[in-house]
Amino acid sequence: MIRAALLALLLLAPPAQAEAEARPEAGADIFAARCASCHSAEAGAPPRPGPNLAGVIGRQVGGDPGFDYSPVLRGAAGQVWDAPMLERFLADPEEMFPGLWMGGNGLRQAADRAAVARFLRRNAGAH
Ligand code: HEC
Repeated sequence: MIRAALLALLLLAPPAQAEAEARPEAGADIFAARCASCHSAEAGAPPRPGPNLAGVIGRQVGGDPGFDYSPVLRGAAGQVWDAPMLERFLADPEEMFPGLWMGGNGLRQAADRAAVARFLRRNAGAH
């Protein structure tokens, strides 16, 4: 009886990854909850504590002309963000760019990183 109830619970609670992939808006939700306090994803939005991320996929590292980047990101200009690089970055931002000014604000779950990368790619150059 108890075992059946536990099994039912497991079946009703799909792993986070399946959930993020099933819901296309997941990336937007995660961005709103975990990134938007510092970043806007709308082109031309007023400054926040972090650079504007509208169109960041396909843009140079350190490529928001309105943002005063740390030396490590200024030094990485020439590299271009793509989705796999963004996902690697979010797994451990300081490991990719030691001395980064972003605090410990990566994403622990691979599914969350993929969802945010999809969201930012969809948002490429969008308003
Ligand atoms: C506490 C504020 C803060 C939070 C929260 C935050 N960031 Fe950042 N982020 C920054 C700052 C500041 C920089 C610039 C760092 C530097 O110059 O070293 C940055 C840089 C970046 C860059 C490099 C941008 C470029 O133009 O090269 C990306 C990509 C990025 N953040 C993505 C994210 C994502 C995605 C999230 C949410 C999971 C997030 N950040 C959460 C503050 C934040």
